[in-house]
Amino acid sequence: MNLILMGPPGAGKGTQARRIAERYAIPQLSTGDMLRAAVKAGSPVGLQAKAAMESGALVTDDIVVGIIADRLKEADCAKGFILDGFPRTVPQAAALDKVLAGMSIAIDHVVDMEVDSEALVARITGRSTCSKCGEGYHAVSKKPSVAGVCDKCGGELTQRADDNEATVRNRLKVYNEQTAPLIDYYKKSGNFKAVDGMAEMNQVFDSICAVLG
Ligand code: AP5
Repeated sequence: MNLILMGPPGAGKGTQARRIAERYAIPQLSTGDMLRAAVKAGSPVGLQAKAAMESGALVTDDIVVGIIADRLKEADCAKGFILDGFPRTVPQAAALDKVLAGMSIAIDHVVDMEVDSEALVARITGRSTCSKCGEGYHAVSKKPSVAGVCDKCGGELTQRADDNEATVRNRLKVYNEQTAPLIDYYKKSGNFKAVDGMAEMNQVFDSICAVLG
């Protein structure tokens, strides 16, 4: 199963992608996670991406398309994959179509998670993530049992550099201008479904699984 999980910043893409990956035994390919790893490692890609990410702008299409094209060739994607945060512009979607056509595979489902803008700001500014296993938490909706410590692995919880209110508002603006047009792009493909991302996390997961079958 090849899936694109769409939605604005904070919609819950990462939260749901991790659960789908577990349920369907396919990898989560998050361009955000890959770029943050590159920034942390100080690689050439990371050095190019850092400033854009910190301001809430998008990293250039050629960088992210290159990262995803390489990742899709890895053996664990043979059974399927979840694209989380990619594509994010119409040129990225067109480039993805070309890469997939070259591999003789296709996208089976595009799921868009719909969430109100103000809820997104509250979700992102309250978010923390485990530095060891990547599990996500929230100061109100998903508190860890011990403050600052991951329930799953005991790792330290950290906040992302781009999770402050000013940057979040810019990320939402960028989403509306550059990523939202993808909804029409994928509606034409016939395998697009929107789910209510405002529902409780388990309900959102059930709605997505109902789409995936
Ligand atoms: P990326 O890491 O992809 O960030 P994003 O799209 O802004 O999305 P987030 O990771 O912030 O949110 P999410 O939807 O995963 O929500 P989450 O599950 O964490 O990208 C970061 C940056 O990298 C971009 O700004 C850009 O610079 C660059 N980049 C990445 N991809 C790129 C691309 N393709 N092209 C160019 N540049 C690219 O949930 C958020 C919070 O809400 C959590 O605390 C969670 O616990 C909580 N929550 C989740 N679901 C619910 C629910 N149903 N109810 C209540 N709370 C919930």
